[in-house]
Amino acid sequence: MATKEPEVITDKHEMRKWSRAMRSQGKTIGFVPTMGYLHEGHITLVREAHNHSDLIVVSIYVNPGQFSPTEDLSTYPSDFRGDIEKLMAIPGGVDVVFHPHNLYDYGPNLSGDNGFESKGGKLKGAGVVSCVEDSGFGHETWVRVENLEKGMCGESRPVFFRGVATVVTKLFNIVEPDVAMFGKKDYQQWRVIQRLVRDLDFSIKVIGSEIVRHNDGLAMSSRNVHLSPEQRQQALSINRSLLRARIAAEKGHVNCQELRDLVTKAIQEAGGKVDYAEIVDQESLRAVEEITSPVVFCVAAWFGKVRLIDNMEICLRNGDL
Ligand code: PAJ
Repeated sequence: MATKEPEVITDKHEMRKWSRAMRSQGKTIGFVPTMGYLHEGHITLVREAHNHSDLIVVSIYVNPGQFSPTEDLSTYPSDFRGDIEKLMAIPGGVDVVFHPHNLYDYGPNLSGDNGFESKGGKLKGAGVVSCVEDSGFGHETWVRVENLEKGMCGESRPVFFRGVATVVTKLFNIVEPDVAMFGKKDYQQWRVIQRLVRDLDFSIKVIGSEIVRHNDGLAMSSRNVHLSPEQRQQALSINRSLLRARIAAEKGHVNCQELRDLVTKAIQEAGGKVDYAEIVDQESLRAVEEITSPVVFCVAAWFGKVRLIDNMEICLRNGDL
């Protein structure tokens, strides 16, 4: 049953005004940042946000700052109307969809469509942020979470966490939520955000939500739409091998090199190319050699031109070893 249509706000000043008006009435605000093309993973975050706050804001913004020039910014899928309809189908709905045109736009000389015009002409797509930075105007302040952003996705996507941490900081400053929801599907991202909230004294509770999967185990992702039917089958090897690794660990096979080999081999045999397969401490995200405390097994792998990530938490009870 459809609920009310959310108010769509595109202007950051309007967004802040709305939040402040609601907070002055004593309402709490739950916030779900997204890049759109919503699926059940995003929708679950919204449903959970209802358990923690009176009002819900969802942002839909494909952030150029977290894509490097060779990445898939220009082909990132979008369906704004479809997204609104999915949000309306959630019990309780969503109060506001914050849909800024450009969050790296700071004034009359840098506004709107021509905001990124430079000597060399219009700067478009994936190059925007790095070009603006190089040209010495526009955005030059970045939020970095120095240790947690290293390794795993930070290694293969060098500007990614800087872009995420910066845009999420900006969104937090604009939306001023009480609670913010993040999926554990992007485990490193969730830990980076938790840490920046703590280190920069944001008064926001960050909640990590479990990974939502298709029935066959594939983690839901906006990028799955780019998989061919064959690649989609191959991609099942990620979750299946992670499950095998967890079962092996529970049976006492706690050597991480062996577990990494198991997963890497399974993905390669299925036709994927492993970007990384790392077993890390759940808090520090430091690699471990043997499982003696709660860890998370994080994987990124390519299927054709599509890069997928997934992970599995492994917590062994003492009696299991
Ligand atoms: P996006 O990929 O759209 O994801 C938005 C949120 O949905 C993230 O917190 C992500 O972890 C969560 N999510 C995605 N797939 C999920 C799944 N299968 N199960 C559970 N949660 C899932 O992550 C981003 O956007 C961006 O980096 C963003 C934080 C919005 C900053 O630009």
